Amino acid sequence: MSLDKAQWLDELAESLSDRGWISFDITPWLGAELLQSLQQEIVVLDQSDALKIAGIGRGSEPVRDRSVRRDKIAWLQGDTPSQAALFEFLHDLRLGLNQRLFLGLKRFEAHYATYHRGDFYKAHVDSFQGRASRIVSLVLYLNDDWQPADGGALQIYSRENESEADGLILPEAGRVALFMSEEIRHEVLEAQRTRYSLACWFRQDVIPLPLSALI
Ligand code: OGA
Ligand code: MN
Repeated sequence: MSLDKAQWLDELAESLSDRGWISFDITPWLGAELLQSLQQEIVVLDQSDALKIAGIGRGSEPVRDRSVRRDKIAWLQGDTPSQAALFEFLHDLRLGLNQRLFLGLKRFEAHYATYHRGDFYKAHVDSFQGRASRIVSLVLYLNDDWQPADGGALQIYSRENESEADGLILPEAGRVALFMSEEIRHEVLEAQRTRYSLACWFRQDVIPLPLSALI
């Protein structure tokens, strides 16, 4: 495989505009070592109980509805060497997408997420139409040897018909799901074993909201 970053970014941009989503292996770009250290970070956070129950919706107090989502999250600050390296990559990706799609992405936010056995996230979109906040979503998976029987796949629905399945992504280490936050409905199917991931949203707004106001 030839590693031409400009060409790779062209392909991502084309898929985002043609279909609204794409899945790919990011290992050639991030390197196996960085993926491993991110994986180690989330395992430690999970074991030390540093991940908190995620909320849904907006407002001063996020609603914690266990019938909709059951993952636990921790926001990344970019303050470890691995997170700094990842943030540099995400920064470049933001600029690359802006150059090609004129999305005016200003910044990104990212959190680790863990789904334990039995956890899921029902079908949803990541941004409310018209808010122009979260524009592009990226999910990076951090699990070794994920089998179909382990559940926890990301079900992607068609941009044209939100009840029609358009893709199923296994959360295997290095795999990434990249999609338009407002347009692509998606769902995390029930996990049968612990499932680690890192989610990132590229946003059009400049000023960070207080964490409690985030979806
Ligand atoms: C989310 C989400 C998908 C995944 O956090 O909003 O949809 O595969 N995550 O973890
Ligand atoms: Mn989502």
